[in-house]
Amino acid sequence: MTQQMRETADIIGRDEINDLEAILEVVNTDTDEVLHSVHSVYDTIFTWDYEKGQRPKLDKLYEKAKRAQWNAQTDLPWDTEVDQEKLVVANAVANGGFTEGVDVSGTSLERWGDKEWIQFGIESQNWTLSQFMHGEQGALVCTAKIVESVPWIDAKYYAATQVMDEARHVEVFSKYLDDKLSGHYPINAHLRMLLDDIIADSRWDMTYLGMQIMVEGLALAAFGFMHQMTTEPLLKQLLRYVMSDESRHVAFGVLSLQEYYQQLSASEMRERQEFAFEAAVRMRDRFLQQEVWARMGADPKEVVPLLLQVPDRQVFQSLLFSKIVPNCKKLGLLDAADGWLRQKFTELGVIAFEDWQDTGEEYDSLQAAPTDAVA
Ligand SMILES: [Fe+2]
Ligand SMILES: [Fe+2]
Repeated sequence: MTQQMRETADIIGRDEINDLEAILEVVNTDTDEVLHSVHSVYDTIFTWDYEKGQRPKLDKLYEKAKRAQWNAQTDLPWDTEVDQEKLVVANAVANGGFTEGVDVSGTSLERWGDKEWIQFGIESQNWTLSQFMHGEQGALVCTAKIVESVPWIDAKYYAATQVMDEARHVEVFSKYLDDKLSGHYPINAHLRMLLDDIIADSRWDMTYLGMQIMVEGLALAAFGFMHQMTTEPLLKQLLRYVMSDESRHVAFGVLSLQEYYQQLSASEMRERQEFAFEAAVRMRDRFLQQEVWARMGADPKEVVPLLLQVPDRQVFQSLLFSKIVPNCKKLGLLDAADGWLRQKFTELGVIAFEDWQDTGEEYDSLQAAPTDAVA
């Protein structure tokens, strides 16, 4: 079968994008795993062309990144008291109760009282922050690989600053989980599959597409959403700091790939489109919180379909793509190869975001460096 013939099932392992049964079958069965190795064969590229600033936009980004460094240990108010239960209750009150918009009658959730729903809210936060932490480690590893594999000196310099940023992000989420929350979750199986595929690919531009455009584009939207919703001041500030770094990272992806994609053929672009589609589906699938329901003793196959009917939930799910779709458009990925990705994003219900602001334009507004704000 040629690359051009790959269909949905070859790319994501199922025919129907929304086959919930198949999605929920994918679980992390190795939750005691401590070290996870992924085999990858790729070329490490040295360049003897050291002329700095050949790519002025990357050079500018690098200079900016050096000025915007912050210290996870000393720049955040870690002495803030966090009462998880109180926050869950306040949030439920603000949103009209725990089961607002869900009809749980006739399901195992019918027997849940406030105690169970509060516990669910707490677990849900532990889970969300744990997945953010695992995703950050993915970014750390992928960007270290970009330092090795990208041929341009300006990109190697920039990527080196991003490696430091990602180390700091893993550090802050890990510290927040340990000091302020009440338990970790292992990596979600859909997220792990995606990170494995990104890091295993031998082509340097695929690391960028998977990480800087797709994973970080989604992270930027998810962090922004949580930043807006949370009333916990430490988390709010932490997310604000992380987001100012992330917007730079996504801009790094857009600036680098824009140049590289201009010389690719239609069939090469189609491979990039398929990879973007796979990443989009994996990331959407990972947000179902299946592990939280299981830990709470509820059957994910029974309750996830209920959850998906909540209108707010659908809005949230599609908003996650509000950065990814305009960035893909800017890179020419939507309409290359007869608009294959446009069609797929239409099926996923996220094409409406194509004309939202792309991160190339947006990052300036997020670059008021947190350290400047503090000073
Ligand atoms: Fe990050
Ligand atoms: Fe990042």
